[in-house]
Amino acid sequence: MNLHGNEVPLGKNYTLNKTLAIVFTLVILTVIPLLYNLVDYYSVFLLNSSPKSPSDSYSSIEEGEELQPLPIQEEECDLFTGEWIPNPNAPYYTSSSCWAIHEHQNCMKYGRPDGGFMQWRWKPDDCDLPIFNPSQFLELMRGKSLAFVGDSVGRNQMQSLICLISRVEYPIDVSYTADDNFKRWSYERYNFTMAIFWTPHLTRAAIGDTDGPTKTGLFNLYLDEYDVEWTTKIDEFDYIIISGGHWFFRPMVYYENHRIVGCHYCLLPNVTDLGMYYGYRKAFRTAFKAINSLKNFKGMTILRTFAPSHFENGLWNQGGNCLRTKPFRSNETQLEGSDLEFYMIQMEEFKTAEREGRKRGLKFRVLDTTQAMLLRPDGHPSRYGHSSTENVTLYNDCVHWCLPGPIDAWSDFLLEMLKMEGIRSFRDRLEFG
Ligand SMILES: *[C@@H]1O[C@H](CO)[C@@H](O)[C@H](O)[C@H]1NC(C)=O
Ligand SMILES: *[C@@H]1O[C@H](CO)[C@@H](O)[C@H](O)[C@H]1NC(C)=O
Ligand SMILES: *[C@@H]1O[C@H](CO)[C@@H](O)[C@H](O)[C@H]1NC(C)=O
Ligand SMILES: *[C@@H]1O[C@H](CO)[C@@H](O)[C@H](O)[C@H]1NC(C)=O
Repeated sequence: MNLHGNEVPLGKNYTLNKTLAIVFTLVILTVIPLLYNLVDYYSVFLLNSSPKSPSDSYSSIEEGEELQPLPIQEEECDLFTGEWIPNPNAPYYTSSSCWAIHEHQNCMKYGRPDGGFMQWRWKPDDCDLPIFNPSQFLELMRGKSLAFVGDSVGRNQMQSLICLISRVEYPIDVSYTADDNFKRWSYERYNFTMAIFWTPHLTRAAIGDTDGPTKTGLFNLYLDEYDVEWTTKIDEFDYIIISGGHWFFRPMVYYENHRIVGCHYCLLPNVTDLGMYYGYRKAFRTAFKAINSLKNFKGMTILRTFAPSHFENGLWNQGGNCLRTKPFRSNETQLEGSDLEFYMIQMEEFKTAEREGRKRGLKFRVLDTTQAMLLRPDGHPSRYGHSSTENVTLYNDCVHWCLPGPIDAWSDFLLEMLKMEGIRSFRDRLEFG
């Protein structure tokens, strides 16, 4: 069996093939010393007046600067609009220091000759994004749980996070099944649990035909049915990071109300081709509906937005590759085509779900990785996701991300978002408490 082919989803250019015409809850700071608590909050208020990183502003307090009153209007920095800038201090782990790297993303181990792609950090236009601090993250996550819900790119993010934390601690495997698609990790000293739920289509799905029109499988998607493999298991989690995308490029047959309603490039007689966006939208709608209908769920849902692939000079299965060795600047490319469409659909469904969730006090947030990753054509494994002597049919992987690599920045984003939550909830309590 060709595991790798199974795992590397189709790239976006697939659809462009005209011939086929397919188209902090405030970290319960009781566990953190009070001093840290105050410093942390006030540092951010100081931060509002000058674009410094929170870590810079600790010193402001020590210098005896007066604490500012709470600003009425917060000027929140848009973390997700910016540029990649050189970072000679990266990477923060290696293929030998971290065991959690999936073989297919282990670019160092498989001899990727250039290392420059690891040495960049994300710089938002209007502020700084601090590099991930594993101790801080673990402290924030004490007694909490985080679930990744999605496909192998979600797993890619989880493994990046495990490697970044590995400078402080490794988790132990507390999985409830031998199935690697449903791993569960525990950071025992912190009572922090991390889990991954494999659900590339987010809704209930089954393979209808392992071959199908493109020889990549034809999937039956039950667009109005929950994928109980994850929906029945996530209500205990404090944070869910949900994502999805690349699998929707493949042929699919759509079911609603137990009947076929259409498909995406299934080439079946009498089945209307509704395109992939139809399924993508409905899948997110159903996934968010599942979350909002969980009676015991009190956690935060984080949508990790679509991360574009970067096949050039051909489709994924026609020799397309990603050979660049440097990031783009933001003025050198723009979000378009299926990347843009996926992004917009996600955001629309997210907004609807957020409104719905708010009625019962559920928080929805966006980890908006799309723009940052669009600028990283250099961050994929290409052919360095396996040994060059391995006897399997393999495509160039321009979908997943090398570890270490640009996906490590997602943890920078995540930690900063969690820290900002703390401030938000502190402010809410002052205003309404
Ligand atoms: C660990 O965290 C869970 C919540 O995730 C909580 O129910 C449990 O009491 C905690 N255990 C300890 C020993 O603090
Ligand atoms: C397609 O639909 C037509 C009209 O309803 C019917 O006559 C034909 O048998 C159907 N073909 C298949 C393959 O189901
Ligand atoms: C993008 O911006 C940089 C820096 O401002 C500039 O040097 C470069 O010429 C611009 N490139 C394009 C394609 O506009
Ligand atoms: C590689 O795999 C093919 C098909 O599985 C097999 O026929 C062939 O003998 C293998 N070649 C080597 C060098 O192992």
